[in-house]
Amino acid sequence: MRKVLVVGIGPGHPEQITMQAVNALNRVDVFFVLDKGREKDDLVRLRKDICRRYVRNDSFRIVAVSDPPRDRTPEDYGPVVEAWHEERAALLERGLTEELTEDQCGAFLVWGDPSLYDSTLRVLERLLARGKVAFEYEVIPGVTSVQALAAAHRIVLNGIGEPVHVTTGRRLAQGFPPCADSVVVMLDGGGAFANIDDSAIDIYWGAYLGTEAEILVAGRLQDVAGSIEEIRRDARRRNGWIMDTYLLRRRRS
Ligand SMILES: C[S@@+](CC[C@H](N)C(=O)[O-])C[C@H]1O[C@@H](n2cnc3c(N)ncnc32)[C@H](O)[C@@H]1O
Repeated sequence: MRKVLVVGIGPGHPEQITMQAVNALNRVDVFFVLDKGREKDDLVRLRKDICRRYVRNDSFRIVAVSDPPRDRTPEDYGPVVEAWHEERAALLERGLTEELTEDQCGAFLVWGDPSLYDSTLRVLERLLARGKVAFEYEVIPGVTSVQALAAAHRIVLNGIGEPVHVTTGRRLAQGFPPCADSVVVMLDGGGAFANIDDSAIDIYWGAYLGTEAEILVAGRLQDVAGSIEEIRRDARRRNGWIMDTYLLRRRRS
């Protein structure tokens, strides 16, 4: 039966990859790379660099699968993502059937870790449910961008014995969550931190974590929000894309 590996490859640093992941890469016949258009070219290149760096034989193939276009700001988020997952499943079904023989091993290299804001596992479950192509799959964990952020700033995410809330920029735009003082924000295309007006909040911000372009800023949110917005604009203009993650922490007392 076809075998599929879902491998977390960390958030960008070529050495932020586990030995388990390196061993898994060496079992692979075909790497499927989801090509997300011009903006994400650098991320596709980084995945290819990882294969070349760690895979000891040169018999593997890299197959680019063009990701279906998706409306990033829909009114009705759930159904739009649902339809996009279905389209993605159909594309991958074709990829697995046409590019992988019954006894071969394919892999998806997932940015960071597959358990955090990534649709690969959901799409693979959907593929199995459609029942048109049979395969077994295994998940190999990776370092998340959240861990890379904490390490870069040399911080503990939680206050002592306190919870950490992980959320998206879209959610943060509705206000600082009441359930925790430490809030990690991902997928924030619009800089939602800038609308939080609270002098007791600190921010630990990181962009392109683990890569040569890494940028870090930390300080009282009200003092540094403006400069982070400026840095984001410049970096996006320079590189064509930006990926940033940050921790917001409310100070008590
Ligand atoms: C689709 S999610 C993928 C998260 C990933 N699975 C992980 O474990 O980190 C993409 C978001 O992850 C964060 N991210 C991923 N890589 C990053 C990096 N190198 N630097 C900063 N943020 C990153 C950003 O918040 C970005 O919007």
